[in-house]
Amino acid sequence: MSEFTGKTVIVTGAGSGIGRGSALAFGREGANVVVADINEENAARVAAEIGAGALAFKVDVGVEEQCRALVAATVKKFGRLDVLFNNAGIGGRRAKIGDMPTKEWLKVININLNSLFYCTKAAIPELKKAGGGAIINTASVDGLIGMSTISHYVSAKHAVIGLTKSCALEYAADNIRCLAICPGYVDTPMVSDGFAKAETDLITMMTPVGRPADPAEIANLVLFLASDKASFMTGSFHQVDGGILAGFRMHAD
Ligand SMILES: NC(=O)c1ccc[n+]([C@@H]2O[C@H](COP(=O)([O-])OP(=O)(O)OC[C@H]3O[C@@H](n4cnc5c(N)ncnc54)[C@H](O)[C@@H]3O)[C@@H](O)[C@H]2O)c1
Repeated sequence: MSEFTGKTVIVTGAGSGIGRGSALAFGREGANVVVADINEENAARVAAEIGAGALAFKVDVGVEEQCRALVAATVKKFGRLDVLFNNAGIGGRRAKIGDMPTKEWLKVININLNSLFYCTKAAIPELKKAGGGAIINTASVDGLIGMSTISHYVSAKHAVIGLTKSCALEYAADNIRCLAICPGYVDTPMVSDGFAKAETDLITMMTPVGRPADPAEIANLVLFLASDKASFMTGSFHQVDGGILAGFRMHAD
Protein backbone atom coordinates (compact mmCIF):
# COMPACT_ATOMS: atom_id res chain seq x y z
CA MET A 1 0.00 0.00 0.00
CA SER A 2 1.36 3.42 -0.91
CA GLU A 3 0.58 6.81 0.53
CA PHE A 4 -1.49 7.53 -2.60
CA THR A 5 -3.84 4.62 -1.96
CA GLY A 6 -7.31 6.08 -1.55
CA LYS A 7 -6.14 9.56 -2.51
CA THR A 8 -7.67 11.33 -5.50
CA VAL A 9 -5.56 12.93 -8.19
CA ILE A 10 -6.62 15.03 -11.18
CA VAL A 11 -4.19 14.97 -14.10
CA THR A 12 -4.97 17.36 -16.94
CA GLY A 13 -3.66 16.53 -20.38
CA ALA A 14 -3.61 12.90 -19.21
CA GLY A 15 -4.51 11.48 -22.59
CA SER A 16 -0.94 11.72 -23.90
CA GLY A 17 2.71 12.26 -23.08
CA ILE A 18 3.73 13.50 -19.63
CA GLY A 19 0.13 13.53 -18.37
CA ARG A 20 -0.45 9.95 -19.48
CA GLY A 21 2.83 8.79 -17.91
CA SER A 22 1.95 10.50 -14.64
CA ALA A 23 -1.64 9.25 -14.59
CA LEU A 24 -0.41 5.68 -15.07
CA ALA A 25 2.16 6.12 -12.31
CA PHE A 26 -0.42 7.53 -9.85
CA GLY A 27 -2.71 4.64 -10.83
CA ARG A 28 0.03 2.09 -10.07
CA GLU A 29 0.38 3.68 -6.63
CA GLY A 30 -3.30 3.03 -5.92
CA ALA A 31 -4.66 6.55 -6.38
CA ASN A 32 -8.06 7.34 -7.82
CA VAL A 33 -7.04 9.10 -11.02
CA VAL A 34 -9.16 11.53 -12.99
CA VAL A 35 -7.82 11.33 -16.52
CA ALA A 36 -8.77 14.75 -17.85
CA ASP A 37 -8.20 15.68 -21.47
CA ILE A 38 -9.84 17.51 -24.35
CA ASN A 39 -9.28 14.33 -26.37
CA GLU A 40 -12.03 12.09 -25.07
CA GLU A 41 -10.83 8.96 -26.85
CA ASN A 42 -7.31 9.20 -25.46
CA ALA A 43 -8.63 9.95 -21.97
CA ALA A 44 -10.83 6.85 -22.12
CA ARG A 45 -7.91 4.73 -23.33
CA VAL A 46 -5.62 5.84 -20.49
CA ALA A 47 -8.39 5.38 -17.91
CA ALA A 48 -8.90 1.84 -19.23
CA GLU A 49 -5.14 1.20 -18.93
CA ILE A 50 -5.29 2.24 -15.28
CA GLY A 51 -8.43 0.18 -14.68
CA ALA A 52 -10.71 0.43 -11.65
CA GLY A 53 -10.17 3.68 -9.80
CA ALA A 54 -9.83 5.80 -12.93
CA LEU A 55 -12.33 8.24 -14.35
CA ALA A 56 -11.99 9.64 -17.87
CA PHE A 57 -13.26 13.21 -18.12
CA LYS A 58 -13.47 15.39 -21.20
CA VAL A 59 -12.43 18.95 -20.42
CA ASP A 60 -11.20 21.99 -22.25
CA VAL A 61 -9.03 23.53 -19.55
CA GLY A 62 -9.18 26.83 -21.37
CA VAL A 63 -12.82 27.22 -20.32
CA GLU A 64 -13.36 28.10 -16.65
CA GLU A 65 -16.79 26.45 -16.29
CA GLN A 66 -15.36 23.19 -17.62
CA CYS A 67 -12.57 23.29 -15.03
CA ARG A 68 -15.18 23.78 -12.32
CA ALA A 69 -17.12 20.85 -13.76
CA LEU A 70 -13.96 18.72 -13.70
CA VAL A 71 -13.43 19.32 -9.99
CA ALA A 72 -17.13 18.81 -9.23
CA ALA A 73 -17.20 15.49 -11.13
CA THR A 74 -14.06 14.37 -9.30
CA VAL A 75 -15.52 15.01 -5.88
CA LYS A 76 -18.87 13.50 -6.89
CA LYS A 77 -17.15 10.28 -7.97
CA PHE A 78 -14.40 9.92 -5.37
CA GLY A 79 -15.57 12.14 -2.50
CA ARG A 80 -12.33 14.14 -2.21
CA LEU A 81 -9.44 15.79 -4.02
CA ASP A 82 -5.84 15.50 -2.82
CA VAL A 83 -3.61 16.32 -5.80
CA LEU A 84 -4.09 18.54 -8.84
CA PHE A 85 -1.56 18.08 -11.63
CA ASN A 86 -2.03 21.05 -13.97
CA ASN A 87 -0.27 19.62 -16.99
CA ALA A 88 -2.33 20.15 -20.16
CA GLY A 89 -0.63 22.41 -22.65
CA ILE A 90 -0.10 23.14 -26.31
CA GLY A 91 2.89 24.23 -28.33
CA GLY A 92 1.03 26.62 -30.57
CA ARG A 93 1.91 27.84 -34.04
CA ARG A 94 5.45 29.08 -34.32
CA ALA A 95 6.32 32.57 -35.56
CA LYS A 96 8.49 35.51 -34.63
CA ILE A 97 6.64 38.12 -32.55
CA GLY A 98 6.15 40.47 -35.51
CA ASP A 99 4.42 37.69 -37.43
CA MET A 100 2.54 36.09 -34.54
CA PRO A 101 -1.22 36.21 -35.04
CA THR A 102 -2.78 37.79 -31.94
CA LYS A 103 -5.39 35.03 -31.88
CA GLU A 104 -2.64 32.41 -31.64
CA TRP A 105 -0.90 34.35 -28.84
CA LEU A 106 -4.14 34.53 -26.84
CA LYS A 107 -4.91 30.84 -27.42
CA VAL A 108 -1.55 29.66 -26.09
CA ILE A 109 -1.70 32.00 -23.10
CA ASN A 110 -5.20 30.76 -22.36
CA ILE A 111 -4.44 27.03 -22.55
CA ASN A 112 -0.98 27.19 -20.97
CA LEU A 113 -1.60 29.80 -18.25
CA ASN A 114 -5.22 30.82 -17.66
CA SER A 115 -6.22 27.15 -17.44
CA LEU A 116 -3.97 26.68 -14.40
CA PHE A 117 -5.71 29.60 -12.70
CA TYR A 118 -9.14 28.13 -13.53
CA CYS A 119 -8.34 24.62 -12.28
CA THR A 120 -6.48 25.84 -9.20
CA LYS A 121 -9.29 28.22 -8.24
CA ALA A 122 -11.82 25.40 -8.55
CA ALA A 123 -9.63 22.93 -6.65
CA ILE A 124 -8.61 25.04 -3.64
CA PRO A 125 -11.87 24.62 -1.64
CA GLU A 126 -11.77 20.85 -2.14
CA LEU A 127 -8.09 20.58 -1.20
CA LYS A 128 -8.88 22.55 1.95
CA LYS A 129 -11.73 20.18 2.78
CA ALA A 130 -9.31 17.24 2.40
CA GLY A 131 -7.04 18.90 4.98
CA GLY A 132 -4.46 19.97 2.40
CA GLY A 133 -2.79 18.55 -0.66
CA ALA A 134 -0.51 19.36 -3.55
CA ILE A 135 -0.77 21.29 -6.79
CA ILE A 136 1.89 20.49 -9.35
CA ASN A 137 2.17 22.75 -12.39
CA THR A 138 3.94 21.83 -15.60
CA ALA A 139 6.15 24.73 -16.63
CA SER A 140 9.18 23.98 -18.84
CA VAL A 141 12.81 24.89 -19.29
CA ASP A 142 11.10 27.51 -21.47
CA GLY A 143 9.81 28.96 -18.20
CA LEU A 144 13.43 29.76 -17.33
CA ILE A 145 15.01 30.77 -20.63
CA GLY A 146 13.76 32.22 -23.90
CA MET A 147 13.29 30.37 -27.16
CA SER A 148 12.71 32.03 -30.50
CA THR A 149 9.44 31.55 -32.45
CA ILE A 150 7.45 30.48 -29.37
CA SER A 151 7.15 33.74 -27.42
CA HIS A 152 3.58 32.89 -26.37
CA TYR A 153 4.69 29.54 -24.93
CA VAL A 154 7.78 30.99 -23.25
CA SER A 155 5.74 33.82 -21.70
CA ALA A 156 3.06 31.46 -20.40
CA LYS A 157 5.62 29.06 -18.91
CA HIS A 158 7.51 31.88 -17.14
CA ALA A 159 4.16 33.00 -15.71
CA VAL A 160 3.35 29.47 -14.54
CA ILE A 161 6.34 29.69 -12.22
CA GLY A 162 5.08 33.02 -10.87
CA LEU A 163 1.61 31.61 -10.34
CA THR A 164 3.14 28.64 -8.53
CA LYS A 165 5.03 30.89 -6.12
CA SER A 166 1.98 33.06 -5.33
CA CYS A 167 -0.20 30.00 -4.83
CA ALA A 168 2.37 28.51 -2.43
CA LEU A 169 2.44 31.70 -0.39
CA GLU A 170 -1.33 32.01 -0.24
CA TYR A 171 -2.14 28.44 0.81
CA ALA A 172 0.81 27.16 2.84
CA ALA A 173 -1.21 27.76 6.00
CA ASP A 174 -3.90 25.46 4.59
CA ASN A 175 -1.34 22.68 4.14
CA ILE A 176 -1.54 23.03 0.35
CA ARG A 177 1.83 22.86 -1.36
CA CYS A 178 2.30 24.22 -4.88
CA LEU A 179 5.27 23.33 -7.06
CA ALA A 180 6.34 23.64 -10.67
CA ILE A 181 8.25 21.21 -12.85
CA CYS A 182 10.48 22.34 -15.69
CA PRO A 183 11.00 19.49 -18.13
CA GLY A 184 13.52 19.66 -20.94
CA TYR A 185 12.98 17.69 -24.13
CA VAL A 186 10.49 14.89 -23.53
CA ASP A 187 9.57 12.42 -26.25
CA THR A 188 5.87 13.24 -26.77
CA PRO A 189 3.59 14.16 -29.68
CA MET A 190 3.82 17.85 -28.73
CA VAL A 191 7.47 17.90 -29.77
CA SER A 192 7.33 15.44 -32.66
CA ASP A 193 4.38 17.36 -34.16
CA GLY A 194 5.76 20.84 -33.49
CA PHE A 195 9.42 20.54 -34.47
CA ALA A 196 11.21 19.28 -37.57
CA LYS A 197 13.56 16.29 -37.24
CA ALA A 198 16.59 18.56 -37.72
CA GLU A 199 15.38 20.68 -34.79
CA THR A 200 14.81 17.74 -32.44
CA ASP A 201 18.23 16.40 -33.44
CA LEU A 202 19.70 19.76 -32.43
CA ILE A 203 17.87 19.78 -29.08
CA THR A 204 19.09 16.22 -28.44
CA MET A 205 22.64 17.31 -29.20
CA MET A 206 22.26 20.22 -26.76
CA THR A 207 21.03 17.85 -24.04
CA PRO A 208 24.05 16.48 -22.13
CA VAL A 209 22.47 13.07 -21.53
CA GLY A 210 22.09 12.82 -25.31
CA ARG A 211 18.44 11.80 -25.57
CA PRO A 212 14.94 13.03 -24.82
CA ALA A 213 13.25 12.00 -21.58
CA ASP A 214 10.67 9.28 -21.46
CA PRO A 215 7.42 10.65 -19.90
CA ALA A 216 7.87 8.14 -17.07
CA GLU A 217 11.03 10.00 -16.03
CA ILE A 218 9.00 13.17 -15.59
CA ALA A 219 6.29 11.25 -13.74
CA ASN A 220 8.93 10.16 -11.17
CA LEU A 221 9.43 13.81 -10.21
CA VAL A 222 5.71 14.58 -10.21
CA LEU A 223 4.94 11.72 -7.83
CA PHE A 224 7.81 12.67 -5.54
CA LEU A 225 6.67 16.30 -5.35
CA ALA A 226 3.06 15.24 -4.72
CA SER A 227 4.12 12.85 -1.96
CA ASP A 228 4.76 13.40 1.74
CA LYS A 229 8.47 12.93 1.00
CA ALA A 230 8.31 16.50 -0.35
CA SER A 231 6.48 17.84 2.71
CA PHE A 232 8.91 20.77 3.19
CA MET A 233 8.84 21.75 -0.46
CA THR A 234 6.55 24.45 -1.79
CA GLY A 235 6.81 27.49 -4.04
CA SER A 236 9.79 26.06 -5.89
CA PHE A 237 10.42 24.92 -9.45
CA HIS A 238 12.34 21.81 -10.42
CA GLN A 239 14.27 21.13 -13.59
CA VAL A 240 14.12 17.64 -15.04
CA ASP A 241 15.97 18.42 -18.22
CA GLY A 242 18.85 16.03 -18.90
CA GLY A 243 21.23 18.86 -18.04
CA ILE A 244 20.25 21.14 -20.92
CA LEU A 245 20.30 24.27 -18.73
CA ALA A 246 23.54 23.39 -16.97
CA GLY A 247 25.63 25.41 -19.39
CA PHE A 248 27.73 25.07 -22.51
CA ARG A 249 29.63 21.88 -23.29
CA MET A 250 32.96 22.91 -24.82
CA HIS A 251 34.56 19.49 -25.34
CA ALA A 252 33.85 16.91 -28.04
CA ASP A 253 34.73 13.65 -26.20
N1 LIG B 1 7.34 17.40 -24.44
C1 LIG B 1 8.23 18.27 -23.98
O1 LIG B 1 9.41 18.30 -24.41
C2 LIG B 1 7.83 19.26 -22.92
C3 LIG B 1 8.85 19.99 -22.29
C4 LIG B 1 8.51 20.89 -21.30
C5 LIG B 1 7.18 21.04 -20.93
N2 LIG B 1 6.22 20.34 -21.56
C6 LIG B 1 4.84 20.54 -21.11
O2 LIG B 1 4.31 19.31 -20.69
C7 LIG B 1 2.90 19.36 -20.78
C8 LIG B 1 2.42 18.11 -21.47
O3 LIG B 1 2.91 18.11 -22.79
P1 LIG B 1 3.32 16.78 -23.57
O4 LIG B 1 4.67 16.99 -24.07
O5 LIG B 1 3.01 15.61 -22.74
O6 LIG B 1 2.36 16.92 -24.83
P2 LIG B 1 1.22 16.00 -25.44
O7 LIG B 1 0.75 16.73 -26.64
O8 LIG B 1 1.68 14.60 -25.55
O9 LIG B 1 0.08 16.04 -24.32
C9 LIG B 1 -0.69 17.17 -24.06
C10 LIG B 1 -2.10 16.74 -23.73
O10 LIG B 1 -2.85 17.91 -23.38
C11 LIG B 1 -4.13 17.79 -24.00
N3 LIG B 1 -4.71 19.12 -24.17
C12 LIG B 1 -4.34 20.07 -25.07
N4 LIG B 1 -5.15 21.13 -24.96
C13 LIG B 1 -6.04 20.85 -23.99
C14 LIG B 1 -7.12 21.55 -23.44
N5 LIG B 1 -7.48 22.75 -23.89
N6 LIG B 1 -7.83 20.97 -22.45
C15 LIG B 1 -7.49 19.74 -22.01
N7 LIG B 1 -6.49 19.02 -22.49
C16 LIG B 1 -5.76 19.57 -23.48
C17 LIG B 1 -3.86 17.10 -25.32
O11 LIG B 1 -5.04 16.53 -25.86
C18 LIG B 1 -2.80 16.08 -24.92
O12 LIG B 1 -3.40 14.88 -24.53
C19 LIG B 1 2.56 20.67 -21.50
O13 LIG B 1 2.17 21.63 -20.54
C20 LIG B 1 3.87 21.04 -22.14
O14 LIG B 1 3.96 22.42 -22.35
C21 LIG B 1 6.51 19.43 -22.54
